[in-house]
Amino acid sequence: MRLLVAILNKRLIPIWVSVVVVGLSQCVPGETNVSKLEELAQEPIENPTFVEHIAPILSKHCLGCHRPQGIAPFSLNSYALARKKAKTIAKVTAARIMPPWPADPNYSHFIGENLLSNAEIKTIQNWVINGTQEGSYAKKSSAFFAENNQLQVAAYKSAIGKPDLVISIAPIAIKGDGIDRFYLTKTHIKLPENAVIAAMEFVPGNKDLVHHANGHLILYPNGKKSSKHLENKTVNITPGQYAEDFKQLGLLNDDNSIPERIHSAVNYLPGVVGVRYPNDIGGIAVPKEFSLALVDLHFGPSDRNTTDSSVVNVFFRKSKPSRPTYEINLGTDGVGKITPPLVIPPNQITQHSVSYTIEKPITILTINPHLHLLGKSFTAFALKPNGDTVQLISIPKWNFRWQYFYTFKTAQVLPAGSTITAIAKFDNTNNNPFNPNKPPKQVSERWEDGGNSMRASDEMFQFIITYIPYQKGDEALNLESK
Ligand code: HEC
Repeated sequence: MRLLVAILNKRLIPIWVSVVVVGLSQCVPGETNVSKLEELAQEPIENPTFVEHIAPILSKHCLGCHRPQGIAPFSLNSYALARKKAKTIAKVTAARIMPPWPADPNYSHFIGENLLSNAEIKTIQNWVINGTQEGSYAKKSSAFFAENNQLQVAAYKSAIGKPDLVISIAPIAIKGDGIDRFYLTKTHIKLPENAVIAAMEFVPGNKDLVHHANGHLILYPNGKKSSKHLENKTVNITPGQYAEDFKQLGLLNDDNSIPERIHSAVNYLPGVVGVRYPNDIGGIAVPKEFSLALVDLHFGPSDRNTTDSSVVNVFFRKSKPSRPTYEINLGTDGVGKITPPLVIPPNQITQHSVSYTIEKPITILTINPHLHLLGKSFTAFALKPNGDTVQLISIPKWNFRWQYFYTFKTAQVLPAGSTITAIAKFDNTNNNPFNPNKPPKQVSERWEDGGNSMRASDEMFQFIITYIPYQKGDEALNLESK
């Protein structure tokens, strides 16, 4: 089981890069055949209005999170809301802090790459300099605006479409005592018939508190299912006592054997979007009755009594998966040896690498770099036997807050004998605003004590690769097609 320890100090404010508004280049607004979005991406608008120019940028790049009940702390779906935040919007977009997209687009490209063009950034600057003009709603585009002149947001809480099934996790009461909490939950699901799950997506109820979740599917063999399997249950776990807590959850079969599980069917970290592969790739065949177990639902400290009601969206598809996906996990709890070992002395910046050579050709779909609070940068690439390098990902400035599962636009094929290498830097100095220790102290990978440690001070270095065994023609496999 992977542990994603997510302790975040909310009070730490990133240091904004100072914004210099550069002189305007000649701009050509208006009458072209290209869509508004393409036009905005190409040329800055000298005197933009909210209705015509800012709204489309917010719709495309921001509203996925900055919407009512989105994962961001405030919505930006109207002129009044955007104007209130205008100066900060100009700052964080120019500094490329928002939208959050840590992967370097000069190294590799992924689905959902959310980056503003330089022209869009300048248009926002110009809007603020010229006094945040609203513009006339006579010029609004119905592609972006609802009738009440607010920006449109999808009715369902999902980043990948309209779910076929919404699993509600029983509400969990959280005390306002400033303590991190970890829960195991089990929710029983009964469908009209056997089904194939194309994708699952965790949507936090209390977005400020839910730090991460990792969900497994529990498939009970026919006849072995007992009444305890049908119960929905939540257990507050004490780090270090997993085995006991699992028992309490009523997961085991009557003969105490462990039921079949599908690991990591759904994962959540803020900003992580569910993945739905095209054609016959991936997907999970499930019987009509099964359970969803969230095995480490982690809530950060709260200063008020509250309740969390998170949901898991499920998307079905008709055909059985004919190309199941597999995972390679390099580093902590996985293959390859982290060199030098992950021990990070205080007041030092260290670099570590891990490599693994594949024996059979693979087609890479998705990758997930994972470090904790001391992470500084992350790079991964593969070296083919013929000496060619395949650039997988570069994150020049690690941001603990945004740990996406990156899916390639076109699958990356690696021949047998390719060596995959990941290199991570860690910053255990006072300059790292996320450093949990003040003053810094030695931090190491504590996986060796059985995976029971959830201490925030521990580090991890993982590179998780989701792949399918290679088939001829995969070089052209377009993962964006649906
Ligand atoms: C993937 C989700 C996501 C997207 C997309 C996103 N934001 Fe944010 N934004 C957040 C979250 C969450 C925060 C709260 C701070 C944090 O957790 O980093 C935030 C904070 C902010 C802040 C407040 C910064 C401060 O310190 O006061 C501004 C302004 C902002 N976002 C603007 C934008 C704009 C403009 C866009 C689009 C160009 C955008 N965001 C896209 C999630 C997102």
